[in-house]
Amino acid sequence: MSENLSPIDTAKFVAAKRASAFVEDGMKVGLGTGSTAAWLVKCLGERVQSEGLRIVGVPTSTRTAEIARQVGIKVVSLDEARWLDLTIDGTDEFDAELNLIKGGGGALLQEKIVATASDQMIVIADASKRVEKLGAFPLPVEVIPFGWQTSKALIEELLFSMDVLGQKSSIRMNRDAPYVTDEGNHILDLHVKSIGNARQLSLVLNQVPGVVENGLFIDICDVVVTGHGDGRVEVEDINAGTREEDRVEFATSDNIFLDLAD
Ligand code: A5P
Repeated sequence: MSENLSPIDTAKFVAAKRASAFVEDGMKVGLGTGSTAAWLVKCLGERVQSEGLRIVGVPTSTRTAEIARQVGIKVVSLDEARWLDLTIDGTDEFDAELNLIKGGGGALLQEKIVATASDQMIVIADASKRVEKLGAFPLPVEVIPFGWQTSKALIEELLFSMDVLGQKSSIRMNRDAPYVTDEGNHILDLHVKSIGNARQLSLVLNQVPGVVENGLFIDICDVVVTGHGDGRVEVEDINAGTREEDRVEFATSDNIFLDLAD
């Protein structure tokens, strides 16, 4: 299988496969959004089919819900599940404290609610997502459509008093109209370049009228599983203070995942 996948897809796959081993029978599991999370959903679907693993999944987007149903995972809403054992999701960036920038796929609001409603959040990533300082990836902020240009101007103004290197922002587009999230909102991408104090920035952004939530995940992630193109995975647990290396072997049956390769 590794011969058929690019190194980046191999990295995503091995991270997802390793993380899927954290899921136990009877668990309520938050299912993230994005290309890495899609691998995870497929891996869990494979365990449901081959081992009879019994789980319920709470998807963080309509896209993920669709994949989960396709692979045979029982899908319920967060209101039905109420509280989850575990959420596994991708990320756009993570730092040494396992703080994250998420929302590149536009699902940050549901992702943050679901991760926060979980005993544990595990992030799966390829090694390119690890950064010294958050902020090179544009920080997504979900805003309500009403008066979004005013919210944008207010945010740009407040960024001048924040510990960041850039103050510009852009409205995320879908062809020639603003992108609309699953919750009917828009996304502003903040080109802050580097964030000195992510905790403070997250708190201040959420005070701006019109802002629903921002893509900084502070003290939410417990474990990051980082995949590499050669099949190695690192498992970092911020609570236990441990970092272990492992290797995911490819089986012929893993070919069922080929349709997910970019
Ligand atoms: C979705 O809104 C995001 O938070 C994704 O989790 C993030 O963009 C990672 O996506 P990839 O796994 O596709 O890089």
